[in-house]
Amino acid sequence: MNNNLIQEIPKTELHLHIEGTLEPELMFSLAQRNHIKLPFASLEKTKEAYNFSNLQSFLDVYYQGANVLINEQDFFDLTFAYLQKAASQNIVHTEIFFDPQTHTDRGIPFATIINGINQALIKAKEELNISSYLILCFLRHLSEESAFQTLEEALKYQDQIIGIGLDSSELGHPPSKFKNVFKKAKEAGFLTVAHAGEEGPPEYIWEAINILGVSRIDHGVRCLEDQKLIDYLRETQIPLTVCPLSNVKLKVFNSIQEHNLKKLLDLGLCVTVNSDDPAYFGGYLVENFLAIKDGLNLTDSEVKKLVENGFKASFLPEELKLVNFFRFTQLLTPQLF
Ligand code: ADE
Ligand code: ZN
Repeated sequence: MNNNLIQEIPKTELHLHIEGTLEPELMFSLAQRNHIKLPFASLEKTKEAYNFSNLQSFLDVYYQGANVLINEQDFFDLTFAYLQKAASQNIVHTEIFFDPQTHTDRGIPFATIINGINQALIKAKEELNISSYLILCFLRHLSEESAFQTLEEALKYQDQIIGIGLDSSELGHPPSKFKNVFKKAKEAGFLTVAHAGEEGPPEYIWEAINILGVSRIDHGVRCLEDQKLIDYLRETQIPLTVCPLSNVKLKVFNSIQEHNLKKLLDLGLCVTVNSDDPAYFGGYLVENFLAIKDGLNLTDSEVKKLVENGFKASFLPEELKLVNFFRFTQLLTPQLF
């Protein structure tokens, strides 16, 4: 498939942390606007700091960057900038993670965060015709008690939040730590997802499925170490939201050529492609597609399958999934067959 077509096909993005879209330029201008001192001397030095050895080394920089977000306008600017970028790559639907505890722990009110983000989603729907859902992630390095407090806030905004997720430092913080708060979230009607099997073992993927009852696994690439889990994921078609450039940047794989995405696809799993924290990992969604297409020699029908899976795995209502399937199948038919 040629690169223009990858750019043009209507796509979804299902694994995207809004705080991970903070480009260094915006970080610097918000730092200036809010009189915040950054630990980086210049834009160049900031980009040099984006040299990560694992997930934790990235998270340390990512949480520092988020300190520049103070006012509703800052959350609006961050979110609208991502949505403009997404629309320019023909993403028609996106399911966005946000990490409220990163901000509420610094004294930023929950309302400031969600109102800023939500205003941007509304404007982008009107002006860019991109639809979005919000997924609130609990930070797993914090306690379940803190997650419960965050869930209380989320309940006041349930019309604006479709789901609950789990992110941050995976090792040592298994999904089972959040069993009770996920149970309450599901009872309240939230859909659920969880990061699992990025750095953590297959057991964490099992826990996310069996103990948290999630609808999707974020990353999940370590499932290949457990044959029973592979069989289960194939039978149930529980989607994996895979983030290729992220996995290379955070040393889950040494190179894009060594990424296991093609193996996961060959095994019949419902794999999707996503950008995770694009401002930190060197590429948005199209760049992720191009990297795997070239690095793993994907065929046209494999790329098509990945795009199709993105719609299938989304939380869109079935009728909207069908409309989107139709749109992109029409666009692809003459080129592929
Ligand atoms: N928060 C932002 N990006 C993340 C990732 N890749 N894994 C876990 N937590 C995250
Ligand atoms: Zn992530």
